[in-house]
Amino acid sequence: MQATEKAQLKIRDKEVELPVLVGTEGQVGIDITKLKQQAGCTTYDIGFANTASCISNITYVDGINGVLRYRGFNIEDLVEHCSFIEVAYLLVHGVLPTAAELKKFSRYLNQHSMIHENMHHFFNGFPADSHPMAILASMVTSLSSFYPSLTHKDPTFDITGARLISKVRTIAAFSFKKSQGEPVVYPRHDLSFCANFLNMMFSSPVNPYEIRPEVVRILNKLLILHVDHGQNCSTTAVRLIGSARANLYASISAGICALWGPLHGGANQAVIEMLKRIKNDQRNIKKYVDMAKDKNSPFRLPGFGHAVYKNYDPRARICRKMCDELFGSLQTSDPLLDIARELEHIALNDDYFIERHLYPNVDFYTGILYRAMGIPTNMLTVMFTIGRLPGWIAQWKESTEEESAKIFRPRQIYNGPTRLDFIPIDQRKKA
Ligand code: SDX
Repeated sequence: MQATEKAQLKIRDKEVELPVLVGTEGQVGIDITKLKQQAGCTTYDIGFANTASCISNITYVDGINGVLRYRGFNIEDLVEHCSFIEVAYLLVHGVLPTAAELKKFSRYLNQHSMIHENMHHFFNGFPADSHPMAILASMVTSLSSFYPSLTHKDPTFDITGARLISKVRTIAAFSFKKSQGEPVVYPRHDLSFCANFLNMMFSSPVNPYEIRPEVVRILNKLLILHVDHGQNCSTTAVRLIGSARANLYASISAGICALWGPLHGGANQAVIEMLKRIKNDQRNIKKYVDMAKDKNSPFRLPGFGHAVYKNYDPRARICRKMCDELFGSLQTSDPLLDIARELEHIALNDDYFIERHLYPNVDFYTGILYRAMGIPTNMLTVMFTIGRLPGWIAQWKESTEEESAKIFRPRQIYNGPTRLDFIPIDQRKKA
């Protein structure tokens, strides 16, 4: 990307010119890659909220207008017309697949859907109440012991991507079965990606699972909504580990650990836990809204607010609508959905939330949809992982493809003690 303009920076006795980069959607960035040698200083940007860590062609997020596009396609179009696997292909390869390419990709996913039988023993090493994200992160790292960790240059990198997307789904379902003390259900080549997952999760030798097309359709849409989101916390973790030229499995495992945090992907689990607390607390919604507004309380409304969206998260809007679709077709209801809707209404009409542009984000309704499918609360962030995986793979590939890519090494503003004389142990005083 060529600089088209210059910015002037005046600091102390120096005046420097800095190149200005302009993205295809008009975003403007000041290129400070040479700031240290030009001006002898760094910038300071806690949480990197004002810092672009890369130039990327993958996902565009417009937080003001609530726009999300993968490789240029609006999320609404992809959710409406594609399967999750089609969108996974789009993210990793950069183009929507032809029918033949999609068939080949699906074949790869089937060929690589099993995990090495030796890996089954790993599950037995975890305590029964282990969080599935802990199991998933460990299992994904251990894949590098069983499968070649290829670089993006390898012609068979596509297989590595498909292998990971397929095996993570299998590991997720197996970890659920193990947590239930039930025998695992192996993947089947005659089922689509999402139908296979549901079957592995809920089928059993004594009670075959009825695969309902409307549930499969909603699951596809949910996973599509999670596929990528630019340089969020977990994607930055994947790029950062990849920048040290660590292998893909190790990088993805770091992304899983970052996503687990309740401020990030762990929020979908926190939303359900909050809604259950409200339900058991005489549906006292106002109490929780007030707690979220209370500066002295560490409680923040999970599923609300976003680092980028200062408008309604387009994914939350789609999920809100899907709730009616799914509950209508299943002929069921969930009191947590009624509480969520009432909570949203109260918050969206409260000055505290309005002034801070706090709206429902992707995590607010997803847990309710997954619950309706029978997916347990502690598996919700695992579902986020299954969806986000193609995006992480695409981002890792893009970052390692850049020959000029440097190892992530931010600087700091040191604010510790200046030089101290050494203190022998017999002269030290208790702090
Ligand atoms: C995801 O980045 C991504 O793209 C992430 C993601 C993806 O697809 O990868 O979209 C997925 O992580 C969605 C976010 C899930 N997390 C949650 O739902 C947790 C609850 N949300 C908040 O913790 C918070 O909104 C964050 C962490 C999501 C965003 O934090 P920011 O942008 O740093 O917001 P902030 O801390 O600067 O907040 C600004 C103000 C503060 O109040 P003041 O100091 O100005 O008085 O808004 C308040 C905050 O206290 N605030 C909230 C709030 N979120 C922000 N107050 C109550 N409840 C909340 N949820």
